[in-house]
Amino acid sequence: KQTDNQLVIDAGQKQFGATTCSSCGMLYSIDSPEDNFQHTQFHQRFLDTIKFVGWKKERVVAEFWDGKIILVLPDDPKYAIKKAEDVRRIADSELGFQQVTLSSPSSAKTYLFINSDRMVVGCLVAENIRRAFRVLEQSENPKDMNKEDFMEHHRAWCCSTVPDKAICGVSRIWVFSLMRRKSIATRLLDTVRTTFMYGCHLTKEETAFSDPTPEGKLFATKYCGT
Ligand code: ACO
Ligand code: ZN
Repeated sequence: KQTDNQLVIDAGQKQFGATTCSSCGMLYSIDSPEDNFQHTQFHQRFLDTIKFVGWKKERVVAEFWDGKIILVLPDDPKYAIKKAEDVRRIADSELGFQQVTLSSPSSAKTYLFINSDRMVVGCLVAENIRRAFRVLEQSENPKDMNKEDFMEHHRAWCCSTVPDKAICGVSRIWVFSLMRRKSIATRLLDTVRTTFMYGCHLTKEETAFSDPTPEGKLFATKYCGT
């Protein structure tokens, strides 16, 4: 019985031919000409976008054994702004964001994680904000709640209605799919907290995420230790 099921599953996969490209990370079906075409279109453009040749002036804000983080500011040279925008566009399309403009481009700081293969494998956009709605902690004991409280508590994102003071808003955070779970997002965020405001180390509470995706929420929950 077990074997029969296994056979069916294998046959299905073979026919579908789903594969993940080991350089660009795209998931596609080798057997579909249309998928192949889309992959070819995407592959080179993606690799060109995340390729980092190095700049005469780089604002290196953190260095690690496997890479470094550089900061791009709104008044930086055109080539730096363009790279930051191109990478942000990749992140946006993966996040399903339609609008390409930022809410306050003049205050946006872009942090790029460059790995030892000279690729931009992580991107974080931070902006000045004044307040944020905190994601509420889940109750330890939901049995103690009545139905209304429970529903209220489990609304999408469980946000409080009273705004908290915040200083730094993370409007985008993205890590290249093949490079996830290597603490790249964690290191980007740690670096933001020490460099976003000159001479200040922001607390986790002073740093807020805007509208996180499910993956973003898993990460943020772990990062904030809630
Ligand atoms: N599932 C469960 N837990 C997770 C996940 C996940 N997918 N991602 C991160 N975590 C938790 C884990 O506890 C992890 O620690 P561990 O690996 O030791 O278990 C911890 O967070 C730290 O993770 P990092 O390695 O620092 O995170 P990573 O570099 O993989 O980047 C990110 C996380 C940015 C969410 C990445 O998955 C990504 O780019 N996803 C697609 C884009 C996206 O959804 N971005 C967030 C949008 S929200 C916003 O931009 C405001
Ligand atoms: Zn590819």
